[in-house]
Amino acid sequence: MSMLETIENPFKPKAARIVRQYDLIKDHRFFQLRHIDMKKAMSFSYNPGQFIMLSIPGVGESPFSISSTPSRPGILELGVRKVGILSDAFFQKKDNEVVYIRGPYGNGFKLDQMVNRNLIIVAGGLGVISLRSILYYVLDNRDQFKQIFFLYGTRTPDEFLFKTEFFQLKQRDDIKCLYTVDKPNAKWTENVGVVTKLFEKLPKLDPLETTAVVVGPPVMYKFVIDEFLKLKIPKNQIQLSLERRMKCGIGKCGHCAIEHLYTCMDGPVFTYWDTLHFRELI
Ligand SMILES: Cc1cc2nc3c(=O)[nH]c(=O)nc-3n(C[C@H](O)[C@H](O)[C@H](O)COP(=O)(O)OP(=O)(O)OC[C@H]3O[C@@H](n4cnc5c(N)ncnc54)[C@H](O)[C@@H]3O)c2cc1C
Ligand code: FES
Repeated sequence: MSMLETIENPFKPKAARIVRQYDLIKDHRFFQLRHIDMKKAMSFSYNPGQFIMLSIPGVGESPFSISSTPSRPGILELGVRKVGILSDAFFQKKDNEVVYIRGPYGNGFKLDQMVNRNLIIVAGGLGVISLRSILYYVLDNRDQFKQIFFLYGTRTPDEFLFKTEFFQLKQRDDIKCLYTVDKPNAKWTENVGVVTKLFEKLPKLDPLETTAVVVGPPVMYKFVIDEFLKLKIPKNQIQLSLERRMKCGIGKCGHCAIEHLYTCMDGPVFTYWDTLHFRELI
């Protein structure tokens, strides 16, 4: 065997099987994938906040946030909205069919900055897909963190993702979950109003011992960050994940570049402090 044949190409997609899938809400589906190569399945390591490139041969390739936690290895979970060519083809796949994955890519959340601190996780709409990874990571490593708050808002109850599991989390006494919708229906029993209204329900926290993370639609960031700043959380302790159009995911194509930053490699997670220096990021 030649030298070249022994070097594995890290960018070559690996085959993975769909082991389970179900609809979260209309046009949004949850997928569990497992690498066919068992060694790869068990050794695939990542940080919450990273993403993978998912491809279907002859169709295309797109980035998707990893929704599972590295603290539960073997299975990779995604939450996908059907918006175009690749996601449409993915939705047509049956259980046990094969798709291709490369990654993980991006930096992920700065977990080392969160240890021994309070954590406020704020999700809006689809942003909860990537935050679900850090949510379960901190719950699986609960002793390493102080108080944990999970705030999640959607426009209507019909758009609320992972309803069953997130309502089960409300039973736990080691995390405070606050949920809200802008427009309730008759069955909705939680808060009503935009996600920033939930901040009224937080206890007094020492800002110097608190880290905050937020992922949601672009319009949400300014208002949520204003709330974090009112709580006096330091700007470098506010972490946000910012999506940009991406093609290669590895700093080659330039699709995601803002000045000298490549959001596929330098991001998608940035601190609020970073965004003050690169205003185009938000
Ligand atoms: C880091 C990252 C993580 C992501 N995580 C998820 C996820 O967890 N779940 C999920 O459903 N989607 C996620 N996305 C978005 C997803 O990659 C796009 O929706 C992708 O285009 C879907 O591919 P497609 O072929 O189905 O749609 P396409 O045919 O490529 O496009 C469908 C429509 O979406 C528009 N579009 C494509 N990419 C973007 C973008 N980045 N921002 C705004 N509009 C866009 C296109 O112009 C078009 O109008 C993520 C994107 C990034 C960059
Ligand atoms: S997606 Fe190609 S450089 Fe970032």
